[in-house]
Amino acid sequence: GLKKKEVNVLCLGLDNSGKTTIINQLKPSNAQTQDIVPTIGFSIEKFKTSSLCFTVFDMSGQGRYRNLWEHYFKEGQAIIFVIDSSDKLRMVVAKEELDTLLNHPDVKHRRIPILFFANKMDLKDALSSVKVSQLLCLENIKDKPWHICASDAVKGEGLQEGVDWLQDQIK
Ligand code: GTP
Ligand code: MG
Repeated sequence: GLKKKEVNVLCLGLDNSGKTTIINQLKPSNAQTQDIVPTIGFSIEKFKTSSLCFTVFDMSGQGRYRNLWEHYFKEGQAIIFVIDSSDKLRMVVAKEELDTLLNHPDVKHRRIPILFFANKMDLKDALSSVKVSQLLCLENIKDKPWHICASDAVKGEGLQEGVDWLQDQIK
């Protein structure tokens, strides 16, 4: 049969935002793990969609590991950026990390699609995806296709819509 196109994706966002939970949900059920622990450094994962085979660099979001991210920017053909929509105190930190990403020479002039997950939408005090996109000033991203989806990674809600969008940007 036809071989699926291989795509490298960077999964970025602060610690505890839900990156590993999201990637785990996108894997086939027989490859999913039950116990998700904070990522140390990064982990390489794979999942497939109808036309693509994604290799994901699931980066740790902990402060002490965030300086690793930039070493993989060159590799990334797409970015998944995850935000904990209920973590209002650290929204400004998430914005700083996003701005660092967007201004990095390995990212700045490339038309890489960025998929944002406004995750943890199930929590009572979660901000809407519209509010998250305002706080992160996403409308200022003019030179890259981007999309934001509200998600609940524990239940797996909102993830497929995002991945469908990402696939459309690449195929
Ligand atoms: P690091 O690896 O440390 O960068 O964190 P991470 O972004 O990979 O977060 P992880 O997937 O480990 O999830 C952190 C915690 O948030 C876990 O306890 C998850 O079960 C929980 N979590 C993830 N997504 C959701 C969600 O949509 N809703 C709720 N309520 N909890 C979530
Ligand atoms: Mg993780």
